[in-house]
Amino acid sequence: MQLSRRDMLKIGGLGAVGAAGLTLPFRGEVSAKSASELPDSRMPRPFRNAFIRQPVATPYKKGEDASGRPMHYYDISAKTGTANIVSGLATPVLGYNGVVPGPRIDVDQGTKIVMQLRNKLPATHPTFGTPLKISTHLHGSASLPQYDGYASDVTPAGQTKWYHYPNFQGARTLWYHDHGVHYTAQNAYSGLAAQYHMHDPAERDLLPQGDYDVAVTLSDIAFKANASQLYDDRSQSGLYGDVILVNGVAWPVMKVKKKIYRFRFLNASISRSYRPSTSPAAPMYVVGMDGGLAPKAQQVSNWRHGNAERYEVLIDFRGFKAGTKINLNNLSNPNNRDFDNTNKIMQFDVVEDNALPADSPGSKTISSIPNALVNSDVMKLKQTPGMKVRTLRVERTNGLWAINGETWEDIVKSGYKKVLGNPGLGDTEVWNIQNKSGGWFHPVHIHLVDFKILSRNGKPAFAYEQGPKDVAYVGENETVKVIMKFGDKNAPVQNTGKYMVHCHNLVHEDHDMMHQFSVGLKDGDVDPNDPITAAPCGNDGEDDKYPGAW
Ligand code: C2O
Ligand code: CU
Repeated sequence: MQLSRRDMLKIGGLGAVGAAGLTLPFRGEVSAKSASELPDSRMPRPFRNAFIRQPVATPYKKGEDASGRPMHYYDISAKTGTANIVSGLATPVLGYNGVVPGPRIDVDQGTKIVMQLRNKLPATHPTFGTPLKISTHLHGSASLPQYDGYASDVTPAGQTKWYHYPNFQGARTLWYHDHGVHYTAQNAYSGLAAQYHMHDPAERDLLPQGDYDVAVTLSDIAFKANASQLYDDRSQSGLYGDVILVNGVAWPVMKVKKKIYRFRFLNASISRSYRPSTSPAAPMYVVGMDGGLAPKAQQVSNWRHGNAERYEVLIDFRGFKAGTKINLNNLSNPNNRDFDNTNKIMQFDVVEDNALPADSPGSKTISSIPNALVNSDVMKLKQTPGMKVRTLRVERTNGLWAINGETWEDIVKSGYKKVLGNPGLGDTEVWNIQNKSGGWFHPVHIHLVDFKILSRNGKPAFAYEQGPKDVAYVGENETVKVIMKFGDKNAPVQNTGKYMVHCHNLVHEDHDMMHQFSVGLKDGDVDPNDPITAAPCGNDGEDDKYPGAW
């Protein structure tokens, strides 16, 4: 592998930020005008396009399971499509149902979902030439391993897989995205990602709904001269585009009423982390994150937002005059690559109520910021003496990204037997996730669980991340201590089996910073939820319907 000098510096432990002679105008790693190969005249510009809401998928059938619980059936196809981001030129993309980002799924807690996911893509990626064997992960769901998007459980072109989503957890912002082994970065970059909202009564009561409950998916992109996507992961270190997309639109403008809005920010970028802030400053309150609502609302002026993290933020526009334009900026974080306009995300344009259409049915805002929200079980967990403690070192060894020196390739070579831990079902453990490098940050995602951050370098978690999480931003020279319970014997789903843990910088994940743990299995046990063989994909027929009961 070819490593650039900067990569060598980093492997040597000398982070670019600390390297002598480098002066940085931004907080990010490097400032450059652009990454794209488009002529300047064609480059998208901030605040020219209208904000859009992504479509919501509808179930093709509603029914009940054997015990009378509601069940919704979805039929989603991964397909090629085109996006119009560069004026006058089409960008080839991949999308769920051909849409980028994909159609949102909305569901109430207690309603099960069966999702048929068809791979209608060509065998190789039309732009990158990489294989298009896909796996679909519902990030934030305690799904069984065979429905969890296990990286090596791939569905090739022309095949289909039925996924089961139990939806028994608390209300939260989830997302489904590709997880195909070694090519997740390319596939997610090209558009295979979508939000999925689970509602419950507490959340419906406390927070804005409908028009005032806004999904905001952030991503970044760079273009070749013909407006196809430019993929440059810089020696497998990271992919940083120079155009920021919000729900697939470059730096859009959203008209807002003088009301309190709830934004569900998802960082779906491949490698970039953000630090959103408003100018002029608008009152902002983090009320929820990856695993749902926080115990308390926390006022913020900005927050550090790593890949795959979700932050639910109330923004209060009531104090602004109509005509005020509020920028949502990106203050960035160390070790991102910043370009001319990556310091901007989107803009809010405050308008009088009657300048927007009447509220759609089911919409509601709130008249004050709730203080107490939801104190979920995970937030009550405490470390006790004798509790199992594990250490996960996230590091670069021999040019590969690794966890405790091991890579997904090592897992594959072991016949998927190797695990970094095997908690019993319902066990509580403490994990120390350690990043000894000053040159990289790693957003580490643990499948299956919601966790609570006990400390960050021995200090309390940031106020805005004191809530249920499933990704921890493990920053430069940080050790993040988390506590979690592995499944629940009393839950409607017994989550035994193998689950992944990995860096959510998808370039790192693909090369090859991913490991696994098993729950409720001992050496030699037969795994009834084997992620590759328990629910295999099959041939795709146009009119096939759900084959089994669940
Ligand atoms: Cu959002 Cu294992 O991923
Ligand atoms: Cu990483």
